[in-house]
Amino acid sequence: MHLVSLPTVDSTNSEAQRRWLTSYPAPESAAQAIAVVAEIQTAGQGRTGRNWQSPRGGLWLSVAWPMRGSSDGYQPLPLAVGLAAAQAIQNCINISPLIKWPNDLLMGDKKVAGILCQAYPDWPTPAVILGVGINANFDPKVFGQPLRQPATTLQHELHHPIDLQTLQSRLLETLEHHLPILDRGDFADLLLPQIRPRLAWLGQQVRCGPETGASSVEGRFIGIDALGQALIQTPSGVRAFCADELRRVLP
Ligand code: BTN
Repeated sequence: MHLVSLPTVDSTNSEAQRRWLTSYPAPESAAQAIAVVAEIQTAGQGRTGRNWQSPRGGLWLSVAWPMRGSSDGYQPLPLAVGLAAAQAIQNCINISPLIKWPNDLLMGDKKVAGILCQAYPDWPTPAVILGVGINANFDPKVFGQPLRQPATTLQHELHHPIDLQTLQSRLLETLEHHLPILDRGDFADLLLPQIRPRLAWLGQQVRCGPETGASSVEGRFIGIDALGQALIQTPSGVRAFCADELRRVLP
């Protein structure tokens, strides 16, 4: 993997896209993954067009990875990346955050990391861009209020900073192990069993679908399937969701 480290950038996902398109303007079967890490992002991107606050002290990292397998094989990409991030954190601090389907990491009930994946099957050399933001060494007060979802940082939870360089290395190593598993279409056999014990809200009452309106579905979150879809037990049977977000329904 080719690693680019920058002091500041608009968004590591955007920079990884630009570098990929410049490096591979034509089909290239030997394309090598490109990782971009920045100390600060000035226009960090969250899901659904949201802004992602990215002060110094966080780990802001993206990888442009060649899509060598079938598009279906990359459907569980956010979960595979979430697993890699949870394992990298666990390796550094001995505590594993939980994976909140499909792409957040939680410590307690607070978000400590977010993942943004984008697939470009039609590029000359097809790629997926995966971005990981880990709130590591800064005070959660910098987020200001109110946040859509409560957030924390590793430093706040541990009461001391962590070694960002080690976290970055562990994350890249783990991604380099997990992503070829998706290339081969082996998510269900090799990664799913590692994700299940780390799932947040398993067995709990959740709601999936639009935040407002009647089209969202409520039921018990019973797990994820071979494609990485969330399975929700409703009174009328099990429903599978491939995108969207889970919200907990408190008793
Ligand atoms: C979310 O939870 O909404 C996803 C957040 C993803 C943030 C990361 S930080 C590194 C990469 N670059 C970005 O602009 N976004 C992702």
